[in-house]
Amino acid sequence: MHPREIKPGIEAICNVHWERRLFDALIPLPEGTSYNAYLIRGTKATALIDSGDPVFRDEFLRQFEDVPAIDYVVSQHSEQDHSGLIPAVLQRFPDAKLVCNDKASDLLITHLAVPAERIQIVSDGEQLSLGNKTLQFIFTPWVHWPETMCTYIPEDKCLFSCDLFGSHLATSDLFVRDPAQVYEGAKRYFGEIMMPFRSVIVRNLEKLSEYDFNMIAPSHGPVYDQPEFILEAYRDWTSPKVRNTVVLPYISMHGSTEMMVKHLTDALVARGVSVQPFDLTVTDVGKLAMALVDAATLIVGTPTVQIGPHPAVHYAAYLANYLKPKVKYAAVIGSFGWASKAIDQIVALIPNLKVEILGTILQKGLPDAETLLKLDALAESVALKHRDDPDVLKD
Ligand code: FEO
Repeated sequence: MHPREIKPGIEAICNVHWERRLFDALIPLPEGTSYNAYLIRGTKATALIDSGDPVFRDEFLRQFEDVPAIDYVVSQHSEQDHSGLIPAVLQRFPDAKLVCNDKASDLLITHLAVPAERIQIVSDGEQLSLGNKTLQFIFTPWVHWPETMCTYIPEDKCLFSCDLFGSHLATSDLFVRDPAQVYEGAKRYFGEIMMPFRSVIVRNLEKLSEYDFNMIAPSHGPVYDQPEFILEAYRDWTSPKVRNTVVLPYISMHGSTEMMVKHLTDALVARGVSVQPFDLTVTDVGKLAMALVDAATLIVGTPTVQIGPHPAVHYAAYLANYLKPKVKYAAVIGSFGWASKAIDQIVALIPNLKVEILGTILQKGLPDAETLLKLDALAESVALKHRDDPDVLKD
C-alpha cells in the first residue's frame, strides 16, 4: 500500500497481510493483520520508524522510490514483523543510522545480523531533532519484549506505540472508522500478546499519560485519531475489575463432560452469571484469550485420557496459565472411565493464576444425581462470590 499522510510530514506505510492466519506459528489471525512503518520528513532530516515483515520486502522497498535519503531508522521493537526489513532499508540507504536502545541493539545484532557500527543507542527520554520535528524516545518495556519503546513527536502530538494498542486486523482503513471491529481486534491482540504483562502495562500507561498526544500510530491495525477510545479500553483491561462471567473451556469425548458443562451452564445462568463455553475441538484459542481478558472465573472441563486430562484441555490450561488473566476464581470438572488424575493435573497447571479454587467435581461415567447437585452447589458458590466481590462489575 502506498504511503498515506496521517499528519503533515508524517506518512504511514502499511503492509496489509490480508491472508495471514497464524502469527508466530501460535496465534490465530482470523482477520489477518498489518505491519505499519512511519516515514517522518523533517526540515533537516528524515526518519523511518520501524519497517515490516520480511514477506513484504519488495513491496515495502518500492515505497521509497521518491525518498532521496533516510537519515535515521528507528527500531521500536526487535520482533521480526517490525524489524525484519531493517537490514534491507539499511542497505538501500547506506548513510542511515539505526536508532534503538541498548537492549534492542543486542537483539537486532543477534537476530538480524545488523552491523553494529550502524547503530546509534538512545536512552530513555532522549530526543533526536529532525529540524521542525523532534523524536522523543519513551522506554516501555514488555509491550511486547523487554526492549520495546515508543516514540513521541511533541510538535505533532503524535505517539508511535508499535505493538502497544495494536490490533491484528487487515483493513484498508488508515484511521479507526469501525470502532467495534477495531475494539474486537485490539482486545484479541491484548489477550494474546499483552495480557501476561498487565502490571507492567499499567506502569507504562501511567508513564505515557505524562505526554500530550492526540493521535496514536501503532504498528498493527489502523491509526487512532481519537486515542481516548483505545486508552479507555486498555485502562479497563488492565484494571482489577472483572465481569460477572465464567469462561468454560472443555472437551467431551463420550458426552459425560458435556452433560456436566451444560448442566453447570444452565445453573450459572439461572443465578445471573454469564457463561462463555468453549468446545476446544472447534475453538479459536484467540477467542478464548479474549474472553479471559475480563472474566471473573475460569472453569475447566475435561474427560480423562488414560489417567490424565485430554491433551487439548491440557494445552488450554497451560495457555491460560501463561496468559495470566485477572480471573479470581476457578474450578475443574470432568469425567473418567475407570481411573483419573485429570483434575489434580489441571490444577497443577495453573499456578500463575491467583485464584481461589471453588470446587473440583469428578464423575465416573454419566453424571449422576449427586454430581448434578454438586454442580448446582458450584454454580451457587460462583454466583455468591461474584455478588460479594467488589471487583466484580455488576452488569
Ligand atoms: Fe508485532 Fe511483538 O511484534
